[in-house]
Amino acid sequence: MNRLIIHARMPTPLRNFAATIMIKIGNISLPHFPLLLAPMEDVSDPPFRAVCKVNGADLMYTEFISSEGLIRDAIKSRQKLDIFDYERPVGIQIFGGDEEAMALSAKIVDAVEPDLLDINFGCPVKKVVTKGAGAAVLKDIDLMIRLTKAVVRSTDLPVTVKTRIGWDFDSINIVEVAERLQDTGIQALSIHGRTRSQLYKGEADWSWIAKVKENPRIHIPIFGNGDIDSPEKALEYKNRYGVDGIMIGRAAIGYPWIFKEIKHFLATGSHLDPPDIEQRVDVIRTHLVRSVEWKGMKPGINEMRRHYAHYLKGLPNIKEYRQQLVTLNTVEELEDVLQRMINTYRGYRFERQKADMIGLAYSCDS
Ligand SMILES: Cc1cc2nc3c(=O)[nH]c(=O)nc-3n(C[C@H](O)[C@H](O)[C@H](O)COP(=O)(O)O)c2cc1C
Repeated sequence: MNRLIIHARMPTPLRNFAATIMIKIGNISLPHFPLLLAPMEDVSDPPFRAVCKVNGADLMYTEFISSEGLIRDAIKSRQKLDIFDYERPVGIQIFGGDEEAMALSAKIVDAVEPDLLDINFGCPVKKVVTKGAGAAVLKDIDLMIRLTKAVVRSTDLPVTVKTRIGWDFDSINIVEVAERLQDTGIQALSIHGRTRSQLYKGEADWSWIAKVKENPRIHIPIFGNGDIDSPEKALEYKNRYGVDGIMIGRAAIGYPWIFKEIKHFLATGSHLDPPDIEQRVDVIRTHLVRSVEWKGMKPGINEMRRHYAHYLKGLPNIKEYRQQLVTLNTVEELEDVLQRMINTYRGYRFERQKADMIGLAYSCDS
C-alpha cells in the first residue's frame, strides 16, 4: 500500500523523497507517478492496449464489462475478458447494480487471472444508470459500498474503483465516497473530475480530486482523470493537484505516443519530437496485425477502420489514403497503402497535435 502521501503542498525535499517511492496496488508495483490507460468501451481492446503498452502506459484496463452479460455468457462480454501476458499489469473492469451478479462476475474475472479487478461507478450513459449501475450508485453510497464489498469478498485480486466526483453539482460527494470505498478494502481509486450530469461537457474539476488526496485518512493511491491532453497539462496537474498518477483516455486515441511524451516531459522538461511517418505507420501496422490476430481477418480489418482517421489527423491531403484504408479488405492491400504513405510523407515535419477531446463518448451497448 502507498502509505507515504505525497501532498502538493509538501516542502520540496520531502516531496523529492516521496517522489522516489513506487506506487503499489496490492502486490503490483508501478513506477513513480504512473500513467494509466483509461478503460474505454470499443477502444481499449487488446490491439489498442498493445500499442499503448509499447508507448509507455504503465497500467491498462479493459473496456468495461457488464456483470450480467458475463453471467449470461454473452459473447461480447466474454471476449472483453481476453488479456495477454505482454500487456501486464492489466485490470479487468466490470459494472453492475446487483450484488450477487457483481460477486459472481468477480469470480469469473478471477479465473482469467488479470492483475487487478476494477469496478466502474462512473458510466454516465442512461442505459446503464437506469439499471442502477455505473454513475447511478453515486446517488446511493450505501449501495455502492455493498456492491464493492461483494466484489472484494469474492476475489483475491486487488480491487480498484473508477468513479466521478458526484452525481451533479449539488451533490458532489467524492470525499465521503473515497473514504468509504477505502474502508471496504479497495486498493486504488481513479477519479474522473466530472459529475454524471456533465457527461463529457465542461471541464473536469480536479480540485475535488485534490481534496480526496489531501484527506489524511486516505492512504490508497489516487489517480486523476479528465482532460489530460498534453505533457504540459500533465505536469501542471501533477504539481497542482498532488495525485499519485494520471489516467488518460481520449488523448491516447490515435495518439498512443502521449504516454511516452508525457514521461519524457516530466523527466526532462523538454518535448520529444512528434512521431514521424515511419513511426506512425509502424503503430498502425502493429494495431492492424494485433486486431487481425485477435478478431480474425474480416472483423479485425473492419474494427481497425474506426482508428485510421484518428491516427492520420493533421496529415495534409490524406483523404484519398484514408478512403482506401477504410475500404480495402486484405492486409496485403492495406500494407501497400501504408507503404505508399511512407513514401509520400517521408521527411514531413509533423506539428504537435492537440487531441480531439470532443465528440468521443461511450455507448455502453453491452
Ligand atoms: C469512447 C469512450 C469509451 C469509454 N468507456 C469507458 C469504460 O468502458 N469504462 C470507464 O470507466 N470509462 C469509460 N470512459 C471514460 C474514460 O475512461 C475517461 O474517464 C474519460 O474519457 C475522461 O478521461 P479523458 O479526458 O482522458 O478522456 C470512456 C470514454 C470514452 C471517450
